[in-house]
Amino acid sequence: MAENHGFGVDIGGSGIKGCVIDLDSGERVGERVRIPTPQPSKPEAVAEVVGEVVREFGWKGPVGVTLPAVIKQGVAYSAANIDKDWMRLDARALFAKQLGLGTESVAVLNDADAAGLAEINHGETRLREGVTVLLTFGTGIGSAVFLNGALVPNTEFGHLEVDGHDAEKHAAASAKEEHDWSWEKWAHHVSKYLRVLEDLVWPDLIIAGGGVSKKAEKWLHLLDIRTEIIPASFKNDAGIVGAADAASFGHKH
Ligand code: BGC
Repeated sequence: MAENHGFGVDIGGSGIKGCVIDLDSGERVGERVRIPTPQPSKPEAVAEVVGEVVREFGWKGPVGVTLPAVIKQGVAYSAANIDKDWMRLDARALFAKQLGLGTESVAVLNDADAAGLAEINHGETRLREGVTVLLTFGTGIGSAVFLNGALVPNTEFGHLEVDGHDAEKHAAASAKEEHDWSWEKWAHHVSKYLRVLEDLVWPDLIIAGGGVSKKAEKWLHLLDIRTEIIPASFKNDAGIVGAADAASFGHKH
């Protein structure tokens, strides 16, 4: 069978991870490389690390890169957990230059949108039917919305207002850590948040992603919401897979 490989890089507040992805299965090909995110996470310094990751594999093809930011036509319009110098910066042009590629060979997208693409492109058919919302619960909350498999990019549902606060404040996984909450207590806050979300968007299905999705058995059943919610099937590699997909074929469906 002919190889159908892509390359994805996931930029987070603490680490920059990349690897080769099999675009048919969404599986990792070989090892993943992780380099700590430079501090401060200035664009030039981060781009150099992205170059280092890609060169490590001798990869010459298209590259997809995620950022925890709103991205339109390669330009960042927000910067969560990364240096504010990213704001209004043409991230796609910066990465293309660093990688010696044309801008058409580089895709830059929001981290949660990438994680959603991984699930939608490689998951069961029913994920591509109706309105599916993927949420990543981590330091913040990221969101990705799909209608019949097509992404509506840059939804920022982590910032919905719940009880007068930004939803991330109590419903992100970091809030559980910070307050040392039990799963029950945290799930109570997540339910409150999801009820606001489901009243506004009426999804057919919610996918719970982010690091805590690895412990889905501890909390998903505690949620008191009307929408079906399932754990993401891609765990740590979701962003990388979705980024590789986006660079190579946008999204299939
Ligand atoms: C940001 C999103 C990002 C999410 C997860 C939020 O604070 O606003 O753009 O997707 O964190 O990193």
